Order: sequence, then C-alpha cells, then structure tokens
Amino acid sequence: AQSLGALGQRHGLHIGTAVDMDALADPADPRYRELAASEFSSVTAENVMKWESLEPTRGSYDWGPADAFVDFARRNDQRVRGHVLVWHNQLPGWLTSGVADGSISREELRELLREHITTVVSRYRGRIWQWDVVNEAVSDPWDTPSTLHYKGFWAQHLGPGYIADAFRWARAADPKALLFYNDYNIEAFGSGDPANDKTQFVYDMAKRLLAEGVPIDGVGSQGHLGTQYGNFDTFQVAAALKRFSALGLATAFTEVDVRSRLTEGVQAGDSEEINPRLQASASNFSVLLKACLADRHCLSYTVWGFSDRHSWVPGWFDDPPEGLATLYDEQYRPKRAYQEVKADLIFA
Ligand code: G3I
Repeated sequence: AQSLGALGQRHGLHIGTAVDMDALADPADPRYRELAASEFSSVTAENVMKWESLEPTRGSYDWGPADAFVDFARRNDQRVRGHVLVWHNQLPGWLTSGVADGSISREELRELLREHITTVVSRYRGRIWQWDVVNEAVSDPWDTPSTLHYKGFWAQHLGPGYIADAFRWARAADPKALLFYNDYNIEAFGSGDPANDKTQFVYDMAKRLLAEGVPIDGVGSQGHLGTQYGNFDTFQVAAALKRFSALGLATAFTEVDVRSRLTEGVQAGDSEEINPRLQASASNFSVLLKACLADRHCLSYTVWGFSDRHSWVPGWFDDPPEGLATLYDEQYRPKRAYQEVKADLIFA
C-alpha cells in the first residue's frame, strides 16, 4: 500500500507529522519510528526546536535532540518544517525570569531574540523547508480584552514590531527557507464575530508586512479542531486559503488534529463502528485536506502527531477529558480519519 506521503506527492503536496523525539527514541515502541519514517514526506519537531529545549542554560545550546530530529528527516528523505523561532510558550526559565526581575532590559531582550534566531536558523541553513518564524502572536475573541490584539510575552516586552524584525533576521540567516507566520483559529473567515475575526486580523497583518517589504512567505493554519465545535466546509476553508494566496503567500496546514470529548459514553476503547465522533473527526481532517488539495499554493498538510498513543490532547484537555484526535489509535491501528485522508489523496 502506498504511504500518505507518496500519495500526497502525486499532487505536489507534502503530508507531514509532528515528531515526538522521546517516542522516537523508545526501544519499546518500534512502530512509532516505522510509521514516522514511512508514512510521511515532511516532519515537524513537536518540542525539540523550541527555545527552552535548545538553550536551557543561557549561552549554552544543547543541539542533541534537534540534530537527531533533522538527521532522522534526512535519512528518510523527508522535508523539515522548523518549529518554532518566536513563541511565548516553552521559553527558557532564565529568559522569562530575567525579564520579570528586570535583569534583562528591553534592548537586551531584542538582542537575545536576534541572536537566537540567527544562531538556530544558521545552524540548519539549507536543511529547513519552512520555518515557523512567529507563532500565535494574535489573541482570540475569548481572551481579555476580547478585541483582537497582539498578545503574549514578545508583544508585551518588545511591542508588535518584533514580528517584522523576526522575519528579517530569519531571512538573513537562511535566504532559501520559506518563512511562515503560524496560528490557530484561522481556518476560515467570518467564523466568529465578523468585527472581531481572527483570520481577518492575521490577513491584515500579513498584507501590511508584505507592503512593508518584510520577508514573509507563508501563513500556516494549525488546524486544531474539535468535533464538538461544529464543522467547517471545504468551500469556506478553500476560500480562506485563496485569499491568503492572492496576497502572494504560500499556505499550509501545520498542526492538524481533531479531538473529541471522551465523556458522555465516548471512551478511547470504543469500537469505531459505534462511535460517530470518530466519523466526525475523520470528516474534519478531510475538509481541511480537500481545501488544501484544491489550492496549489497550499504546500503541505501536517498532522500534530499521528497516533492517539502520543498526542498532546489528553494531557492538555483533561477537564472534561478529550482525546481520539489523530489518524491512528493507541495500538497504531488506522482509524477512519486515516482511511478518509487516504481516500481523499487517492481520488483527488
Ligand atoms: O520536557 C518535560 C519533561 O522533562 C517532564 O518530565 C514532563 C512532565 O510533564 O514534561 C515535559 O515537558 C512537556 C513538553 O510538552 C515535552 O513533552 C510539557 O510539560 C508540556 O507542556 C509540553 O507540551 C507541548 C505544548 O506544545 C507546550 O506548549 C506539547 O507536547 C506540544 O504538542 C504543543 O505543541 C503546540 C505547538 O508547539 C504550537 N501550537 C499548539 C500546539 C499544541 O499546544
């Protein structure tokens, strides 16, 4: 049987997965390695390229896990999405505490960010296909204040100008890597309050960056969905991709998973036949994939982990418990979502 990666390549589309380096190194879990290597043509490091992993102690980089990840991709002839250069989460403690106690000034913080981007992008120059340069910089309508704004550590301490700076520094360090802005809740326009539409906010931001000559090449839509939130349709999602590509940007789905509530009779061990949420999950995977397949500027479709055995969802959403968010169950049996994604790639 052909892999998802091979089927995607027929359409010029890379099918990728996030890779958990702990799972990859676990001798008791060979199936994880096999599937990560064989089923996908692109990979993203789930955690090991984040700042806290790379530079746990100020001034001393620990490249081991990130290097092992990039080597894994090379051995398996896979493209690499670099994730992530600038984000407000998983920052090293020395950085956040230094800023909090005033020992790191604003000027020094900006310089540290420049150095970090330059160091990381230079090290992997020529080996990264797409970099997530800036991640999740924009608030959601459910945040306080609810009016959309630039949120988080970097906007707070450097002001929103850090976004343009980050893209320029990344371009200087690797002129060939495609530079992405990456965010969630931007799958479609007008899915919430039209006056407070996050997709529109990100669109306006990207347009402004381009007008200012900032080297941004693409917008990544993460695609963390849930079966309890209602469904998008393919036309709506395709329309959003098209508006971004009309600006001259590439697009990608970068972190797709579709979780379900495990309460109300839905348990991880339920058989697929009696579990309508697994069908709803499959349909959501399919909607995003079909939209991407319909747009030649949509370069890749990456799932955020491929098995329920290793998914961030149960660890994050535990009250009420959620899960069942990926393509394979905990025993690596392909679920409906896998079959549906495969069928979409075959029949597109
Ligand atoms: O590394 C420590 C380990 O030493 C410790 O023993 C263990 C005990 O809990 O924790 C480990 O750190 C965890 C880390 O993942 C590595 O496994 C953190 O607690 C945990 O919070 C962290 O979660 C990651 C999350 O980002 C953190 O923000 C998820 O694995 C990762 O899937 C998730 O990925 C993000 C994307 O980067 C950006 N978009 C959203 C997406 C989902 O949140």
